[in-house]
Amino acid sequence: MELVILDTAEAIAERAADKIEALLTTKPDAVLGTATGSSPLPLYDELTRRCAAGRLSFAQVTGFMLDEYVGLPAGHPERYATFMEVNLRSRVDMRPGSLHGPDALAEDLQAACAQYEEDMAAAGYCDLQILGIGSDGHIGFNEPGGPLDSRTHVDVLTEQTRRDNARFFGGDIDAVPTHCITQGLATIMEARSLVLIATGEGKAKAVAQLVEGEVSTDWPATVMQRHDDALVLVDPAAASLL
Ligand code: GLP
Repeated sequence: MELVILDTAEAIAERAADKIEALLTTKPDAVLGTATGSSPLPLYDELTRRCAAGRLSFAQVTGFMLDEYVGLPAGHPERYATFMEVNLRSRVDMRPGSLHGPDALAEDLQAACAQYEEDMAAAGYCDLQILGIGSDGHIGFNEPGGPLDSRTHVDVLTEQTRRDNARFFGGDIDAVPTHCITQGLATIMEARSLVLIATGEGKAKAVAQLVEGEVSTDWPATVMQRHDDALVLVDPAAASLL
C-alpha cells in the first residue's frame, strides 16, 4: 500500500485523476468503481475539467457504485444513485445507464445483492476503485465487525456512521437510513487498483489504523494492506495521527 500526503484536497484530486487518466489512456473501456461522500467530490470536479478539456473520455467506461442506502425513494437527493448521476455521470461524457448501482429498492434485497455481485463479476470487476473512508474505518458501507471476505450484502449502519452522515439529511439522524447494500470487502479487493481519499481531522484515527494498524475486522479498511496496488491519498489533517 502506498501512502501519499498532499497539502490540499485539490492536489489529492489531481493525483487521483492522473491515475484514472493513465488507466483510460491505456484502456478506454475500463470498469471504474465510484464512491460517494464528500471526499471524492474534488476528484469528480477534476475529472469533469479534464473531460471538458478533451484529456480523457468516459464514453466507453462502465461504472459500478460501491453502495446504496436502503429505503430512500427513487430521485431522493441523498440516494447514492442520484449523487453519482449529479456529481459525475451527467457532467462527463459517460453514457446514460452505464453507471450501475445495487437495487436497494428491490423487494428481495438478498437477490439484489447476488445480482449486483454477478453483474460485477460478468464485467470482470473494477479496473480501478475509488474509495473514501468512514470515521469508524468502513469502506463502501462495510461496517466494523463484518467478515473480511464478504461479497455484496445488506449491512446495518452504525450509530457513528448515521451521525456522520446526518449532515446530508438536514442534521437529523432519524432521517438517515438504518440499512444499506454495499459491495463486500472481497468485492472491493477484486479491483486491480484501489485509490482511497481521506481529508480532514475526522479521518485521522481511521487513517492511522488503515496505515499502521493490524488487519482487523474492527477497522475494515485495513484489508487494503493485502492489496498489491492500493494508493492512499491524504491531507496533513487526516495524516495527523501517523
Ligand atoms: C459514506 C459512504 C462511504 C464514504 C463515507 C465517507 O459512508 N458509504 O463510501 O467513504 O461516507 O464520507 P465522506 O467522504 O463524506 O466523509
